[in-house]
Amino acid sequence: MSEALSDTVTLSIENGVAVVLIDNPPVNALGLSVRQGLSAAADRIAGDDAIKAAVISAKGRTFPAGADIAEFAIGMREPWLPGVIQKIESLEKPVVAAIFGTALGGGLELALGCHYRVAAMSAKMGLPEVQLGLLPGAGGTQRLPRLIGAERALQMMATGKPVKAPVAKQMGLVDKVVADDTLMAEAAAMATAAIAHEGPLPRVSEKDDVIAKDKADAGLFDRFVAENGRLFRGVIAPEQILHSVKAAVSLPFAEGMKAEAENFGKLFTSDQSRALRHVFFAMRETTKVPDIAKDTPLIDVKSVGVIGAGTMGGGIAMCFANIGIPVKIVEVKAEALERGLGVIRKNYEGTAKKGRLTAEDVETRMGLLTGTLDMEDLSDVDLVIEAVFESMEIKEKVFSRLDKICKPGAIMASNTSFLDIDHIATFTSRPEMVLGLHYFSPANVMPLLEVVRGAKSSDSVVATGMKLATKIGKTPVLARVCDGFIANRLMYPYMVSSQEMLLAGTPMQVIDAAMRDYGFAMGPIALLDLIGLDVITFPGEMTMTGELVAQERRGQKLNGGFYDYDEKRKGTPSPAALDIVDKVRKHRGIAGDHELSPEQVVAGLLYPVVHEGAKILEEGIALRAGDIDVAAILGYNWPAYQGGPMCWADIHGLSKIVAGLEAMGLKPAELLKNLAAEGGSFT
Ligand code: 3HC
Repeated sequence: MSEALSDTVTLSIENGVAVVLIDNPPVNALGLSVRQGLSAAADRIAGDDAIKAAVISAKGRTFPAGADIAEFAIGMREPWLPGVIQKIESLEKPVVAAIFGTALGGGLELALGCHYRVAAMSAKMGLPEVQLGLLPGAGGTQRLPRLIGAERALQMMATGKPVKAPVAKQMGLVDKVVADDTLMAEAAAMATAAIAHEGPLPRVSEKDDVIAKDKADAGLFDRFVAENGRLFRGVIAPEQILHSVKAAVSLPFAEGMKAEAENFGKLFTSDQSRALRHVFFAMRETTKVPDIAKDTPLIDVKSVGVIGAGTMGGGIAMCFANIGIPVKIVEVKAEALERGLGVIRKNYEGTAKKGRLTAEDVETRMGLLTGTLDMEDLSDVDLVIEAVFESMEIKEKVFSRLDKICKPGAIMASNTSFLDIDHIATFTSRPEMVLGLHYFSPANVMPLLEVVRGAKSSDSVVATGMKLATKIGKTPVLARVCDGFIANRLMYPYMVSSQEMLLAGTPMQVIDAAMRDYGFAMGPIALLDLIGLDVITFPGEMTMTGELVAQERRGQKLNGGFYDYDEKRKGTPSPAALDIVDKVRKHRGIAGDHELSPEQVVAGLLYPVVHEGAKILEEGIALRAGDIDVAAILGYNWPAYQGGPMCWADIHGLSKIVAGLEAMGLKPAELLKNLAAEGGSFT
């Protein structure tokens, strides 16, 4: 008979072993009622003579995957998790954690508070708090080093990467790994065996043999920082993790716990954690389309046609071959087709060389790709994605032919990055089957897919596009039709402003450094060089990019651009480009003596992005501010710890942005102005 200890925790007794089960779908997060239930369970175990030992586990798909992140925003109530775990560890009867699924964050900390740990073979364990801008705050920074050593503990906590059960066993993180279907029986057996155990129970907080070695290793922490510098760049949580583990090594457990709590508190209220928590939920929300019913029938996509074997078409084809879906690739000329397929093969072989694919995988995937010069061959595919040159005339030719060729029920998609999907749909007799699937280059690598919903796209077609995106490992963001959709439209003002700023007198390396300090991998000018100066057109009759291209400087791919590049791709401002900057200044009558500070550069480049984001929302192009943030993070490498443009704007202050835009001579979007006036926020 099982007894409810709270809404989410039950206890049953079998042969003297109390089985405590957490049941809080979807991931058994350690919310208030779970903590109340676990606390009550500890009391019962201590006070009930019929109980000799206990097993803690969960129902559903996983051992707790952490604290309840949603609760962080609404305020947490007692009992606190560290205290609950302490109470369990202090019990005088053996407690076994039976781990399966993903024991993460507070979930793993709960397991660390148990006296024994047994894990299912398929289980994973980790402390991913760093990805939320936090540190393990329920004893993880104190117990994990005592169990597996400070260096490994730091590695797990600073990267947030989980380990698989067999590795966990090797590290000493769990006592035993068992077949998945025997987990509960093995845990009960372990608990029963432990009843007879003489002497004190093995409590991780009291274990000092492993940590003694770390104490003797004076260079441990400096070495970790030196070897893992990139983990610390821009973000503040790893530093606090380091401080906490130092406390674990140098202080008694109780004092270490105090240090952990203090450091956790600093991070909990930080802007970075607020931003990263926003990103966590925003990433998971993009698939939710409020006006499309959950039971909307999906179209079964078993085969795909891709038109165009260029960089984009090839990358798109790979996305499907990677998940076992056959693809027909259509080209106009045999050489282009051959070249395209050759590039794909090279790509796969490169991955195989890095050990991430076997030679057999390469052949299987190549075997799924068929090249053809005849569009008629697409008559039997379920989905066609067009990735040809960006010209409405060419799109018309392609789509009116597809309309005649494709079978009824086939989805017709365009990978256009700025042309009007609704107009493209008019070239067919079935606009309801048309949508945009906008990939980012390289299409097989970049994690974002903009699913562009035409005015007439059917719900089934849109729902299928969204689902398919997830299947090929992308995060979909739904967009309505407009020039540039979400990510490119959002970032265009950023690029334009960078050009104006350079002309006005801020050196390119100052602009780029300011944005690198903000957290981007590269600044906008270097980014232009990377994308190719012939790809983006800027307003005005004489542009710097236009002049550079006229000199055959197309960026990194050809002769350098704003920068000259050495063989290691390190750029230095090019004298040729500086001459062009001067030339354009003279032509436009710009003095070029207005150099901005790094803070002014950030404001000057990002305020226009926020303004554009507000317009995207206002016009209903994006469903929500979080989708815009996800598009910027996944499409343009916007630093996640800044939350994306809309979350950053909320944190930075909307009134400040409105005033800044006005000072730049721009009229802020209505939505932005209204939110600023009423003290609201985008996110
Ligand atoms: N709190 C609240 N909700 C959570 C959650 C958590 N810790 N973890 C997942 N969820 C929710 C998701 O938002 C999602 O909700 P939705 O269905 O309404 O969109 C649902 O659970 C399913 O999540 P996923 O879509 O991510 O499902 P997957 O199967 O792909 O992944 C997972 C499961 C690996 C558990 C993944 O959700 C995950 O990594 N979760 C976060 C784990 C984490 O960060 N834990 C640490 C929390 S902080 C902490 O513990 C502090 C402590 O040290 C004091």
